[in-house]
Amino acid sequence: QVGWPGLIAAYRDRLAVGPDWTPVTLFEGGTPLIPARHLGELTGCEVYLKVEGLNPTGSFKDRGMTMAITDSLARGQRAVLCASTGNTSASAAAYATRAGMTCAVLIPQGKIAMGKLAQAVMHGARIIQITGNFDDCLELARKTTAQYPEVGLVNSVNPARIEGQKTAAFEICDVLGRAPDVHALPVGNAGNITAYWRGYSEYFADGLTGGRPRMLGVQAAGAAPLVHGAPVSDPETIATAIRIGAPASWNGAVAAKEESGGAFRAATDAEILAAYRLIAGTEGVFVEPASAASVAGMLAACTEGWIEPGSTVVCTVTGNGLKDPDTALSGMPEVEPLPVDPVAVAGALGLD
Ligand code: F0G
Repeated sequence: QVGWPGLIAAYRDRLAVGPDWTPVTLFEGGTPLIPARHLGELTGCEVYLKVEGLNPTGSFKDRGMTMAITDSLARGQRAVLCASTGNTSASAAAYATRAGMTCAVLIPQGKIAMGKLAQAVMHGARIIQITGNFDDCLELARKTTAQYPEVGLVNSVNPARIEGQKTAAFEICDVLGRAPDVHALPVGNAGNITAYWRGYSEYFADGLTGGRPRMLGVQAAGAAPLVHGAPVSDPETIATAIRIGAPASWNGAVAAKEESGGAFRAATDAEILAAYRLIAGTEGVFVEPASAASVAGMLAACTEGWIEPGSTVVCTVTGNGLKDPDTALSGMPEVEPLPVDPVAVAGALGLD
């Protein structure tokens, strides 16, 4: 193996992996931590984007899925099930295929981005649309796997998922040579904020970093149960990936916030879309709408002074923008085609 070996191989001594387990891997992890110059100028901070959309299936879910599928295979399971707003299903479908296992996904009807559905289709998952939201799908997945224990549940309620996802925090500390002052990330089912906090805490406990970041968990305003302190029965947001009203890892998210001196905040759909366009248009990084919530929340926290100028801030951008071309192209004006003529092209470029 030349180059990055995948995260189980990279961090095996820090993961709950049996000595005889064979990793099911697509060489996930090892994603870039990109300095965000424009965001830095806007905020007076040193801002980095942890670009998780560059994982094999285009989201951070691959970190958890390499572990969950490896674990499931080692237990002798032949099939896995998940509820999903899209990314988990794409990842589960790919890793199950890699392992020679069957995968079924429960998705909320009409509420997942096209690219994600295309991934699950291409990887041969059984796609089951449910006339309900993500929370209904997760409850159904839990009930089904409780009744049929031969089927593995690969949502982040599976402890192996959180184990794998904590490695993103390791990578950030490895690159920066320290922990950041603030870490912002979008929060839906709350597995990822739980995982990052575990990762930062383990490095800190082992003396590899001198501190831990304040965790800033950002939810969509129409789906912000952690901000309100109570579940939301009808979550609604353009950021379909985080359209979740009853996060499974509620306690993990609250612990991350409390222990880190952090905060939860809500970003409106307008703020999320503004951040979505800003990152693509100024940093050259195309993320999906939910991913931009981290940046939207970070910007608001800087404006309010919750983040002080000079701070080192990492924003996780969780999924690739290519997954949701519909949102990217919506509202784009019709453009008249031009003739095969350099003068016409020059005119379009604003040249005379
Ligand atoms: N960002 C993206 C792009 C996601 O797909 C998700 C969750 C999150 C953020 C939130 O992470 O749930 O750990 O708090 N997507 C799940 C799914 C629910 O089914 O793909 P979380």
